[in-house]
Amino acid sequence: MEIEDLSETQKDLIRDSWHIVSQDQLHHGTVLFTRLFQLEPELVFLFHYNSSEFSDVQECLSSAEFTEHIRKVMTVIDAAVGSVDSLSSLDEYLTGLGRKHRAVGVKLESFKTVGESLLYALELGLGDAFTPDTREAWSQLYATVVRSMSRGWRRDPLEQ
Ligand code: HEM
Repeated sequence: MEIEDLSETQKDLIRDSWHIVSQDQLHHGTVLFTRLFQLEPELVFLFHYNSSEFSDVQECLSSAEFTEHIRKVMTVIDAAVGSVDSLSSLDEYLTGLGRKHRAVGVKLESFKTVGESLLYALELGLGDAFTPDTREAWSQLYATVVRSMSRGWRRDPLEQ
């Protein structure tokens, strides 16, 4: 995983901003997914627990199983921030995660919308502290995470 593009200043911006947002991960994660479903409403149908689809976004957002998925996403972001000095340690996990998301029906293009929704949630959560430099640092971190997930998504499912 290429991380030389992130400067020490950018790593600090990421850590400091995440420190604020991660105080309430469920709230900011819910903002992220609310935005994601506004941009790509059909994604809600990929979440079906006990094999029944949610009939609308609100039902999905307020379900216990989906809340767990929000926590899972925030935990991965938390791990990426915590490993910002050694992101390659997450590479294998993230390629596996990309592969699992292909299996549940996520399209590669949707990862881009997730990125936009993440920036939206950070902007809302941080207000003026979300400076252009902070945005750029997060865009780069997310791009690195998605690069690994996309590699796993593209990998031949018969490969181990
Ligand atoms: C397009 C957006 C996404 C969709 C539609 C989606 C959908 C799903 C679904 C259907 C599952 C299986 C059910 C579940 O565990 O709740 C799942 C699992 C999971 N997702 Fe996502 N997901 C998305 C984005 C993400 C992102 C961006 C991350 C983290 C960066 C993430 C992290 C996880 C994790 C950690 C699991 C559990 C994997 C496991 O069981 O090993 N998801 N996702």
